[in-house]
Amino acid sequence: MVKSSAPLVFDLASWTKRIPESAIRKLLRFKVKYYFAGGKPGVLPLDVFSKILVEKGLDDLMNLIDGEERKVIDEFNYGPSSGVDSFRETLSGFLRRSDNLKFTKENILVTTGSQQVIYGLLDTMIDPGDVVLSSNPTYLGFMNVAEKLGAKVVTLPTDENGMVTDYLDECYRKSEKKLGKKPELIYVIPDSDNPTGTTLPWKRRKEIYDFAAENKLLVIEDAAYREIQFKEKIPPIKSLDEQNLFVAYIRTSSKEAAPLRVAYSVLPLNLMREVVKARGYYDLCTSTLTQKLLEIYYSKYIDKVLPGIVKKYEERCRVMAKSIDEFFPNGERSSPRGGFFFWWRSTRKFDATLFVEKEAIPSNVAYVPGEAFFTVYGHFFNPDTRELERTAPRKNTMRLSFSYLPPQDIERGIEVLGKVLKEKMAEYHI
Ligand SMILES: Cc1ncc(COP(=O)(O)O)c(C=O)c1O
Repeated sequence: MVKSSAPLVFDLASWTKRIPESAIRKLLRFKVKYYFAGGKPGVLPLDVFSKILVEKGLDDLMNLIDGEERKVIDEFNYGPSSGVDSFRETLSGFLRRSDNLKFTKENILVTTGSQQVIYGLLDTMIDPGDVVLSSNPTYLGFMNVAEKLGAKVVTLPTDENGMVTDYLDECYRKSEKKLGKKPELIYVIPDSDNPTGTTLPWKRRKEIYDFAAENKLLVIEDAAYREIQFKEKIPPIKSLDEQNLFVAYIRTSSKEAAPLRVAYSVLPLNLMREVVKARGYYDLCTSTLTQKLLEIYYSKYIDKVLPGIVKKYEERCRVMAKSIDEFFPNGERSSPRGGFFFWWRSTRKFDATLFVEKEAIPSNVAYVPGEAFFTVYGHFFNPDTRELERTAPRKNTMRLSFSYLPPQDIERGIEVLGKVLKEKMAEYHI
């Protein structure tokens, strides 16, 4: 018998000790009834995908009958590292009609999820000791990768409108003074941020772009929730970058189609060349077959089905807001205008990380403790002292996803969690 607890005899890379497992991935292991943890889509165009699979299968079959075996072989094969050309062309058209972004297919990179292009960009940009900017809190899939690669992560304060850009210049200068290097990139999620659910107004988007262009910084604009917007969309930061020089614009199909592990980005061309080189050593290319399936979705179906999908998410969001207001103890929540998440901060101090493990999960409810979204080794620009300070995670916070469950389960689950919080949170006082 092989013992699973046998000691590891290998000399692992040092990052394995420095970097925690993703708190979101960890919580996926728990099968709870009321799942508010990971941002799993719960409204998917399943009927459309069944049709697409049939359509694709029939098409392949007809080609085989017609003796076009080579064509079919190529669709079940390795593809280019930058993505299948016809799919990139389709995406270029989709970006033009949905967001008025005029970039040709040569500017578009297809990756295996947007997590991969975040990794590829950071892998390409960061040497140990380099400084990167983001908001406090920030997406852990950015922050933990940056810290894994040795970056010093500096975060700016956030309010109900996301990153407070008034502090950008001062934070940039203080970072150089304290950490010995100028920051070289800014990571933001302008549309319905993960984790806070906030949306950056146009003025702040423009300030970020102007600051980056003036100081030659890369903006990583992660638009994962671009399609899941309940109100009129604010133009992306990328719309200011007509020459494709300063903004890496990341979109994913995970939220608007299904997590088939396909994402698409518009990257400055020189940078794209290096990211493509890097990904040639991760997974070589994204599955050709899934790209072909999504090519059908983006060219024929998305415009028809998306409004209905967004409406359903909006209802889930409304129900969660109402339930938090009704059932939770005193605290503050964000007011998302899209995306998948609420951010909630309790008025009382308590340890939401311990609480999820000891109380929420045994009560059949899961959320992601807010602590997971604060940098482990990084700094925070404190607007009161106007200095960079070591990041102090706010343990009395949580991220609640409204995407996965139907409205009635959201209401019931939030009621259950609210009751446990009211009864037990005092025991977790810190
Ligand atoms: C802000 C953000 N970026 C990137 C990702 C990764 O998405 P994917 O790799 O499925 O495209 C997520 C997933 O939840 C996310 O919330």
